[in-house]
Amino acid sequence: MLKKIALISKGEISMKVIHKVKDMQQIAEEVIQQKKKIGFVATMGFFHEGHLSLMREARKENDIVITSIFVNPLQFGENEDYDTYPKDLSKDTSEAEKAGVDILFVPDVKEMYPDEMLVQLHIEERANVLCGRSRHGHFDGVITVLTKLFHIVRPHKAYFGLKDAQQFAVVDALIQNFNFPMELVGLQTIREEDGLAKSSRNVFLSEKERQEAVWLYKGLKRGQQLIEEGEMNPKTVVTEVKNVIGNHTEGKIDYIEILSFPTLKPVSLIDQQVIIATAVYYKEARLIDNLIVNKQGEAIQKFIPGKTGRR
Ligand code: PAJ
Repeated sequence: MLKKIALISKGEISMKVIHKVKDMQQIAEEVIQQKKKIGFVATMGFFHEGHLSLMREARKENDIVITSIFVNPLQFGENEDYDTYPKDLSKDTSEAEKAGVDILFVPDVKEMYPDEMLVQLHIEERANVLCGRSRHGHFDGVITVLTKLFHIVRPHKAYFGLKDAQQFAVVDALIQNFNFPMELVGLQTIREEDGLAKSSRNVFLSEKERQEAVWLYKGLKRGQQLIEEGEMNPKTVVTEVKNVIGNHTEGKIDYIEILSFPTLKPVSLIDQQVIIATAVYYKEARLIDNLIVNKQGEAIQKFIPGKTGRR
């Protein structure tokens, strides 16, 4: 086994697909014994450029890149899209390999949850705003599966998209609260040419909704512009963003909020790094988008808590 991993890191043999937790743990142990650095990208599959950008960055910064594909039932609500969540394992496998992934970890539900979970993880702060208001228990499911995955994969660095900024903030809390010995890296949202944030769920949009959905981004950009011009009142910015989005789509706005980032607390003045975040309901999909900006209104591209900004 040791020999195989040495070859993997030189790109001499192709990506390995692992299905069993035990096998994954054994490989992680061997890699760590060899003093190699593991970069990890957790996903639910159906890859697009957003996922692949995380893998490519992990490739640049680590010896071994591990990506997981697991549609985690614990983080889906009763009326959500667990059963219809899009899948394409053969396309994902070839794209992960092209992005430089060494090991693709694809457990099934029985493998990840063989027994009833007797220990429950629960997060309140950072989870009770934005998406957490309408997705009860969602972030508890996310931190539970990630705790398992981090223990199985044992990454030195884990890469997450800032597209799911609240998830990033929650994972930051998890890593800090439970002393996971790893670095969290947040990377910018990858977008379609017209600005729509790439998402596995975009396939659920009708043509008309797809046209309208670009206005989430345009609304957020207008908010950013106001902050750049010196506007410091979050209410003024939120009102303007609401008008821009509301005037251009029939989708139902779930929220538009400005909060401190990554602490996700209300701010009375935009005098620190903030997130302008929105969620809009369409018929078959609920879309989220955000911009994270400093007090000058400049967008944050890469965020490492405790390193590139305040926690
Ligand atoms: P999933 O939605 O598959 O996303 C996997 C990773 O890709 C997340 O870190 C997400 O933020 C990132 N991502 C998605 N769209 C992106 C985009 N347009 N630009 C940049 N990054 C993007 O998020 C999850 O899966 C799950 O909740 C998971 C963390 C795997 C736990 O089950």
